[in-house]
Amino acid sequence: MSERSTAERITFHEGREILEVDFSGLAFRGGADVDAFYDEIEARLGETGSRWYFLVNYEHCEIAPEAWATFAERGKRANITHGLGTARFGVNVEVRESIRSHARSAQFRANLFESRDAAILALADMRKRHQTAGAASAESFLKVEDVLLRFGGVTALENVGFSVHPGEVFSIIGPNGAGKTSMLNVVSGFYRPTSGRILFEGQDRTHLKTFEAARLGFARTFQNIALFRGMSTLDNIMAGRLLKMKYNFLTDALYLGPAQKEEIRHREFVERIIDFLEIQAIRRTPVGRLPYGLQKRVELARALAMEPKVLLLDEPMAGMNLEEKEDMARFVLDVNDQFGTTVVLIEHDMSVVMDISNHVVVLDHGVKIAEGTPDEVRNDPVVIRAYLGEG
Ligand SMILES: Nc1ncnc2c1ncn2[C@@H]1O[C@H](COP(=O)(O)OP(=O)(O)OP(=O)(O)O)[C@@H](O)[C@H]1O
Ligand SMILES: [Mg+2]
Repeated sequence: MSERSTAERITFHEGREILEVDFSGLAFRGGADVDAFYDEIEARLGETGSRWYFLVNYEHCEIAPEAWATFAERGKRANITHGLGTARFGVNVEVRESIRSHARSAQFRANLFESRDAAILALADMRKRHQTAGAASAESFLKVEDVLLRFGGVTALENVGFSVHPGEVFSIIGPNGAGKTSMLNVVSGFYRPTSGRILFEGQDRTHLKTFEAARLGFARTFQNIALFRGMSTLDNIMAGRLLKMKYNFLTDALYLGPAQKEEIRHREFVERIIDFLEIQAIRRTPVGRLPYGLQKRVELARALAMEPKVLLLDEPMAGMNLEEKEDMARFVLDVNDQFGTTVVLIEHDMSVVMDISNHVVVLDHGVKIAEGTPDEVRNDPVVIRAYLGEG
């Protein structure tokens, strides 16, 4: 396939726990090419006896359609057995699309970067986060304790409790009226529970106001899109960013110098998000004119502009077609990986969340009826019954 041997294309950077794989200039014409390469990678990985962050160079690499199934499968297997995280760079448009579409079905994450440096930085961030996440226990991150929420005679939540670990994708699912949105409203400070507590980073946050919750690092999107419809994509995202800004539009007049510097920093961050969510083309468009799926993406962008520690998403894929859902699922995973954001995701449709969640809680009529890994929950007869409406 090329003048350089496979061995020469595999480099271990011990200090950083990175295995660099160089696919540049290679052409994978079918499954056999892929197997040959991966057999060697896996053998080398096996010898090390440890796990690695994968840094993968795709410059001028061609993967034929016939090779993709094997490519995705082998990549996934290497990740599961030997991987700590992956960052890819040098990816062209076609490969990018294929990676994105296979990423979902094969349950690996896309993580595409513009340059080798950016990819290395991302892996270093990932490594740092894993180290801190390992040190901090779930108890000290986000904990919902025995939450009861009543509206007059209606009990929306009945003594619901769970713990969210730092860095995970945590999903709350359940049929209509189960109490999912109510739970999110309690966590974000929009509702005050009748009893029970919300602990965040070891402190009692039960009686937090919404803006205080935002300052602490909670951002959310809504079941019904809440954007400024007449304003452009860019202005909507900047509006989310305002919360982070030390100088607002009023003080601008008084402290022009520092305010301008602040403004530039904020714009740079917002540009990063626009790139990341691939919404450059609609930056000037009033959001009211955008199709629904893109409006949802802008809403996610606005939440990200707040640089949240916890992202609360209320049915971000509702009303979307399959392709839009897959895009959104991919973005949620990439946000989780690249920004290290903990995600609490509400979803009505069970199949969507199963692919992307680390942990799932199931509510029904305000009661937690199950919790566990996606597989545990999926096969739980109590959950199946709730979804079939026999309960
Ligand atoms: N502000 C409120 N006032 C009165 N009742 C409320 C209020 N908010 C929620 N409820 C009630 O609490 C229960 C749970 O509603 P919630 O919106 O949390 O469910 P959900 O799981 O998000 O449902 P959906 O899938 O339809 O979005 C429902 O019976 C609802 O009518
Ligand atoms: Mg709801």
